[in-house]
Amino acid sequence: MLFFANAHAQTVQVLHWWTSTSEEKAIAVLSGRLAQENIVWKNAVIPSGSGIGAGIVLKSRLLAGDAPEIAQLNGVMISEWAELGLLQELDGVASNAKWEKLLYPTVWHLIQPNGHPVAVPLGIHRINTLFFNRKIFARFNVAAPANWDEFELVAQKLQRAGITPLAQSSESWQLATLFETILLSESDANFYRDAFVNKNSQAFLDARFGRALSRFRSLKKYMPSPLNERSWIASARMLADGDAAMLVMGDWAKAELNSWGLATDVGFSCAAVPNTANYHLYDIDTLVMLNKGAAARMAQEKIAQIAVSPVMQAEYNQIKGSIPVLRNPDLSKLDSCAQASWKIFSRGTAAQVPSLAHRMATDEISKEAIVAELIRFFSNDNVAVSDAQRRLAAISHTLPK
Ligand code: GAL
Repeated sequence: MLFFANAHAQTVQVLHWWTSTSEEKAIAVLSGRLAQENIVWKNAVIPSGSGIGAGIVLKSRLLAGDAPEIAQLNGVMISEWAELGLLQELDGVASNAKWEKLLYPTVWHLIQPNGHPVAVPLGIHRINTLFFNRKIFARFNVAAPANWDEFELVAQKLQRAGITPLAQSSESWQLATLFETILLSESDANFYRDAFVNKNSQAFLDARFGRALSRFRSLKKYMPSPLNERSWIASARMLADGDAAMLVMGDWAKAELNSWGLATDVGFSCAAVPNTANYHLYDIDTLVMLNKGAAARMAQEKIAQIAVSPVMQAEYNQIKGSIPVLRNPDLSKLDSCAQASWKIFSRGTAAQVPSLAHRMATDEISKEAIVAELIRFFSNDNVAVSDAQRRLAAISHTLPK
């Protein structure tokens, strides 16, 4: 019997960058359900935080003729790969399951860059999340800061008492994640898009961009010293252990804190990054299916169908820290962080802002070029704000539009 089942099992290799406890648990929910369909999910993990390494490995495996059946591929990269004809079209699954009606329009547009659905959306993360340690905040009688003035008061008070205010790391994607929230806080959604989506050189020269840069570097004094390239998991650990009071990070950190036994609104809570409460700076996780023949195709379509089903969406996203990609999700599974995320995202495109660091705003080359300049500015106090602005504006002329 067992032999019979195994003989018919279809193994799919999935290339992704999820290595933390909560990320592994979220995958296990999906792979466990797939096992019931006789589909074996085989992890090909490339640990790399926001997935930079995973993208490189995926490309080289493809060039070597050794593509996995499935890969985690987010944002603008979906359209780049679809243009090259590398992705399976999922029109049948999408129309049977009525994805167009079910999904948020932003998600639906993202996954069908050329009129055919070519990616399977898993969940929506909110990047502009400020986590705080509730015990520390209660001890010092402070509340989540709604704007930067309040933030300064809280941070100074904590620092005077010998507590590190911010558990940030100097890893470049994490700093970029922080910077984009600051840019949004110092401007608005239109301005943010003008800079990071349109790459308009004027936006980089604007006073609002300058203010964001100043604020970015000024936060260094509230971060651990020396500032190391610790993983986001280690940053979340600092917050959990009370070694730092706050952390700006996508809400996957919430899932990780939960997985360590810290319940939302008990050990920690989340708020919006100062001045960004009306925005949802988003990062949407998606899987793409690569062309690997008919047998694989059946399994890939089954996976697509199950991943987007309302039951799987509720279960998976509760563990991953994101919210479902569905317009009308099961709200009973959302904690206070997810409720806030869902409410703002549901307001529609005026409130939704695409993450630069997580590939929602622009192509990989532009992102890397902009991030390199941001890191150069952050790491070297001698680089003037205006100098960084001029360099970014100059670079923007050379980037793909
Ligand atoms: C993001 C991804 C999230 C989370 C995070 C840290 O790019 O969308 O799901 O895994 O990286 O690894």
